Amino acid sequence: MKGVLICGGSGSRLKPLTEITNKSLLPVYDKPLILYPLQVLLDAGITDIAIVTGNEHMDQMAAFLGSGKRFGCTFHYCVQDQPKGIAQALGLTEIFANGESVCAILGDNVFFDDLSPVIKSFKSGTELLLKEVHDPERFGVAEMNNGRVVSIEEKPTKPKSNLAVTGCYVYDNRCYEYIRTMKPSARGELEISDVSRWYVELGEAHATILEKEWVDAGTFESLFRAAELVRQQKR
Ligand code: G1P
Repeated sequence: MKGVLICGGSGSRLKPLTEITNKSLLPVYDKPLILYPLQVLLDAGITDIAIVTGNEHMDQMAAFLGSGKRFGCTFHYCVQDQPKGIAQALGLTEIFANGESVCAILGDNVFFDDLSPVIKSFKSGTELLLKEVHDPERFGVAEMNNGRVVSIEEKPTKPKSNLAVTGCYVYDNRCYEYIRTMKPSARGELEISDVSRWYVELGEAHATILEKEWVDAGTFESLFRAAELVRQQKR
């Protein structure tokens, strides 16, 4: 299985912190944000990892991450010329994936559960990681029935559940075939929720509900919360 870290976007909700700096290089207590999702991949034994980021951030991402040698992995860098969505960013890694399945993680997601058993036991379709939240309208939302995912909606105004789809997506290689056929959403992006929904419709979407904390550190409050949780864990 290959790994992908998706670090695109302008980080508009974190300006002026992200005026120059990519969101995923911002500090979370004692480390840049990106090192948390990177550790998830490394813990799952994934060592071939693509970093997708915008042209304006490629220099700083490569300057910080380097070849991967100091983390015991190999990085491949893919430029996303324009912020056209998470699914578009993932689509850029098709040649890199070379027929294998992928574990794609958003560069601003911090997980406190050990995801490695779920990632390592993946066989086919998709494995989504869900988390009960009090503000599901901020996220992709999954509806479950008898342990199966029956629907996924991106930032719905009336969520059908309180289960957020977190930013760790394990897909088999067919995701790339689907991404090639996708059309932009109303906000002009290729939506990752549409890729997951394709697997839901095939009846091949599995899901695990996380028990510990999970933070999408895209706002001041959530970035601060991530730092607070990391600090607590270290004490
Ligand atoms: C993205 C996805 C959303 C997902 C979230 C997790 O939203 O579109 O489905 O729940 O990441 O972090 P964004 O944070 O880019 O708005």
